[in-house]
Amino acid sequence: KKVVLAYSGGLDTSIILKWLQTEYRAEVVTFTADLGQGEEVEPARRKAELLGIRPENIFIEDVREEFVRDYVFPMFRANTVYEGQYLLGTSIARPLIAKKQIEIARRVGADAVCHGATGKGNDQVRFELGYYALEPDIRAVAPWREWEFGSREALIRFAEDHQIPIAKDKRGESPFSIDANLLHSSSEGKVLEDPAVEAPEYVHQRTISPEDAPDTPTVIEIGFEHGDPVSIDGEILSPAALLTRLNQLGHDNGIGRLDLVENRFVGMKSRGVYETPGGTILLPAHRAIESITLDRGAAHLKDEIMPRYASLIYNGFWFSPEREMLQALIDKSQEYVTGTVRMKLYKGNATVIGRESPLALYDQDLVTFEEGSGSYDQRDAAGFIKLNALRLRIGANRAKKAQRG
Ligand code: ARG
Ligand code: SIN
Repeated sequence: KKVVLAYSGGLDTSIILKWLQTEYRAEVVTFTADLGQGEEVEPARRKAELLGIRPENIFIEDVREEFVRDYVFPMFRANTVYEGQYLLGTSIARPLIAKKQIEIARRVGADAVCHGATGKGNDQVRFELGYYALEPDIRAVAPWREWEFGSREALIRFAEDHQIPIAKDKRGESPFSIDANLLHSSSEGKVLEDPAVEAPEYVHQRTISPEDAPDTPTVIEIGFEHGDPVSIDGEILSPAALLTRLNQLGHDNGIGRLDLVENRFVGMKSRGVYETPGGTILLPAHRAIESITLDRGAAHLKDEIMPRYASLIYNGFWFSPEREMLQALIDKSQEYVTGTVRMKLYKGNATVIGRESPLALYDQDLVTFEEGSGSYDQRDAAGFIKLNALRLRIGANRAKKAQRG
């Protein structure tokens, strides 16, 4: 048996690694991705070696550009938010990790893949739907659903028995569970479990608090081409470099904090504290460039399908025919979404203050309160309103009649 484990190098996935070797009796291949989580990935190599993984079975890859270019930006083309607020920072990274694990499984001839998500959450669903969509006969191993450690102490004892290094602060319960990548950090559980209680300041890791942000605003200009951001203040940047820059700007201005209760796919509600500094600047900027370049019908149709598209990503259906169909529609809409947006960043807010495009549909001459030129005749509006009012008047007449008895 050979299994490709999504390995972070942390305590939990190290325990999983050992468990796969000793209880599941498999040869373990590790995959560690640099998704921009802000942690070095090379220590994971040393740790895997220490735990007895042969060098040729250790895979480490920097996937930041692919993550932003092929997952984050396509999702932002749709202005995607789940339940009105969540920018899907964790959800959107899972399909990429699943895809890489399957690629490695094929390369090394593994018959199984393994992740460290619990049996209560969304992530197990996202990983495994990804695996099966890409490799229908693969075996998915989810140790958290299988092993019999009844408590944290039992886990720690197992780690000690197998010489897994444990950082001092990891001995007890960690104060909350973190997932991070270039788009966001999420914190859930433990001290955050009571949704009535405010999240302590130390939970936040990639933004300063708005109260501490500078008293002077920062103004930036984001350039878009075909719906994707390509530059900041005129400087062309790769997808990952651009998001990294926006994250820094967001961090410095206290932008992108979110505290919410969401509906997990498995049916329970959970409370999360998220930080998405760059994404929280990008979303209104993208909407602003669309506001002058998209036709109304196109814009409204996108908005209608967006919640559906968001649920597909949240629920783990990135590699599904319906997500790909919606993506084709969304991508088509972005043909002329090109131009620049000026944003003011100030104490937790990212506000649009200007937008322009060589391909704008916005027509100042048409909309002006001053006398405009030929193509619009105000007198046409009288008939337009009259016909639109027709059924309203018929209905109102009926209501009058019914009232009279
Ligand atoms: N609730 C978020 C989601 O389902 C984040 C899940 C992972 N977060 C974590 N702290 N482990 O996308
Ligand atoms: C987990 O349960 O592993 C994290 C939370 C989630 O997947 O929703």
